[in-house]
Amino acid sequence: MATVSSPEFWNTLYAHHGDGWELGQPTPALVDFVESTPPPRGRVAVPGCGRAHDVRYLARRGYDAVGFDFSDAAVVEARALARAEGSTAPIEQRDIFTLARDHANAFEGLWEYTCFCAIDPARRAEYVRVVDAILKPGGWLLACFYPVRAYGAGPPFPVRREEVARLFTPPFRIERAFVPLRSVSRRQGQEWMVLARKVAAPA
Ligand SMILES: C[S@@+](CC[C@H](N)C(=O)[O-])C[C@H]1O[C@@H](n2cnc3c(N)ncnc32)[C@H](O)[C@@H]1O
Repeated sequence: MATVSSPEFWNTLYAHHGDGWELGQPTPALVDFVESTPPPRGRVAVPGCGRAHDVRYLARRGYDAVGFDFSDAAVVEARALARAEGSTAPIEQRDIFTLARDHANAFEGLWEYTCFCAIDPARRAEYVRVVDAILKPGGWLLACFYPVRAYGAGPPFPVRREEVARLFTPPFRIERAFVPLRSVSRRQGQEWMVLARKVAAPA
């Protein structure tokens, strides 16, 4: 039986219309944030990008965005959508847990949406280590955590604010945290937007 840590698990969902996460558009909370208070431009990683609507949106807004996903189905569809739109934003087929090997200190920023809740919750600390490793010192992490709720099976696995704070600080310092004004209706009240900065480890 394939687990959430394998591309096969996700390929099966894509193949059998199990992709209930698909919005068909860039994430509203990301769009609102970038339009009002754009983080500094530069290279931006988008882990678990799926069909990469957010990657193409960020590229249109002047970011050097790179999408990462290990599902063959996601990558094929993301690249086809990029081609159709004339977007050159790269989509790399990768297990995000391998990124530190060749992308250390490579990104000014990272956009997280529905990847943290898709991975095995037992690997969340490992995920934070990867995000830390691939961001440059002072780099920004913008995340919209979903689904913020106490219990439930997954994916999407529940996310609690206290857990986010415990796992990410340090190596990050949270600069802003708020409930986004716009969520798609089925996610309203379950999203939490966080802007955090990678801080230097104490000497
Ligand atoms: C719930 S979907 C969300 C996709 C996209 N973020 C969106 O909002 O449409 C999670 C995605 O993360 C990918 N994923 C899960 N674990 C991964 C891993 N370890 N490495 C790379 N991609 C992963 C899956 O293949 C899937 O495309």
